[in-house]
Amino acid sequence: MRTLIQGATCVLPTGIVHTSVLIEDSKILDLAPPASAQVDQVVQADGMYLIPGVVDDQVHFREPGLTHKEDLHTASRACAKGGVTSFLEMPNTNPTTITCDRLAEKLQLAAGKSLVNYGFYIGATPSNVAELARAKRTPGIKIFIGSSTGDLLVDDQAALERIFAETSLPICAHCEDETTVRANRDAINGGSTFADHSRIRDERAAVIAVKRALDLAFRHNHRFHVLHVSTAAETELLRDHRGLITGEACPHHLLFNVDDYARLGSLVQMNPSIKTAADNVALWNALREGLLQVVATDHAPHTMEEKRQPYPKSPSGLPAVENSLALMLDSIHQGRCTLEQVVHWMCDAPARVWDMVGKGRIAPGYDADLVLVDLNLEQTIRNDEQETKCRWSPWDGVTLKGWPVRTWVLGQTVYDHGKIDDTIRGGEIQFDHDLGGYWKTA
Ligand code: DOR
Repeated sequence: MRTLIQGATCVLPTGIVHTSVLIEDSKILDLAPPASAQVDQVVQADGMYLIPGVVDDQVHFREPGLTHKEDLHTASRACAKGGVTSFLEMPNTNPTTITCDRLAEKLQLAAGKSLVNYGFYIGATPSNVAELARAKRTPGIKIFIGSSTGDLLVDDQAALERIFAETSLPICAHCEDETTVRANRDAINGGSTFADHSRIRDERAAVIAVKRALDLAFRHNHRFHVLHVSTAAETELLRDHRGLITGEACPHHLLFNVDDYARLGSLVQMNPSIKTAADNVALWNALREGLLQVVATDHAPHTMEEKRQPYPKSPSGLPAVENSLALMLDSIHQGRCTLEQVVHWMCDAPARVWDMVGKGRIAPGYDADLVLVDLNLEQTIRNDEQETKCRWSPWDGVTLKGWPVRTWVLGQTVYDHGKIDDTIRGGEIQFDHDLGGYWKTA
């Protein structure tokens, strides 16, 4: 099956050009093919932009075990709508993904249910280093250096040393120092307002944990990705990367700050906590400067009922996969970034960080994971229109300019102007860790 997408302006690795793209089955076959090329279908896309599908390298999709919040099917529908064609999911499900067998089980679940491409991290515990060392079919190892939702935590220095010394997969971590978080919590008797969340999980907690992780990565010469950076101070630590370190920002840390607790309460309670307006500015600057390479969501749904509980019973996390691309496209209109930067941060860079084969670029031979974007379309986010099972968004009522209107996964249209095709299935993402990561291949 051959499809020609013509009339669109395409964001290629080499720049933005007006060209046609020829897809054959699941791959991009050619750019600007000759007029004589045989095609089965033509998609006329005048006035639109064609970009690679978004690769979201940090999501929590709750299956197995927590499927009252989300499952791989509902989450992947939300991805399709949001232009996310590949996701990497975290191990804090129930049971946790801490063995190769559980990893294989998750991959099998996703094969049956996911409308978009999928990959799963293996989670570190103080005692599973042998599993981590032999794990395959995974982007890498996730360490909760500070605890968050669930009970995964590796805080013990000897255990961390062993993980960095005895494994070769890239490592990423949730960096909030557990000792600092506990001391802060005790100092305000556990906290009673949502704003206390940012006093408990403060800048110091983030900085101490990032320093500790960077020290481990440098001493063990181990590739390391700092998840959801939330402070200006952390971004400064990332200036020295030695070809090993990459970092990431999330839309909620770019766009929300502590002033939003008064309006949104627990809806903006997440880990790491939101910080100040100055941190918002610094995170944008760090992306533009290349201190951070990736934008990912940390999509972490909880039901509205769970979120309505008073602090500190209210759980941390918010859903975002179906709005993250639109939030970043709208930011172009706000003068914060360019379309090329959005594509780099959300598509190409995450694919390179995790050594994905054939993802994140519009180029011959790459997978036909594509998104057609209408940069002038204005739409309002509404809770009752959300595909995520929890059916709410902290951006409810917000109008954004710039939306995905059509999404292809492996050459098949999975979303088209409001309609999701439930019959489409994504594929298992292939990782070739011999590629050597972002600094070698970006
Ligand atoms: O706020 C968060 N929620 N941060 C995390 O790191 C985990 C996530 C969750 O799984 O709920």
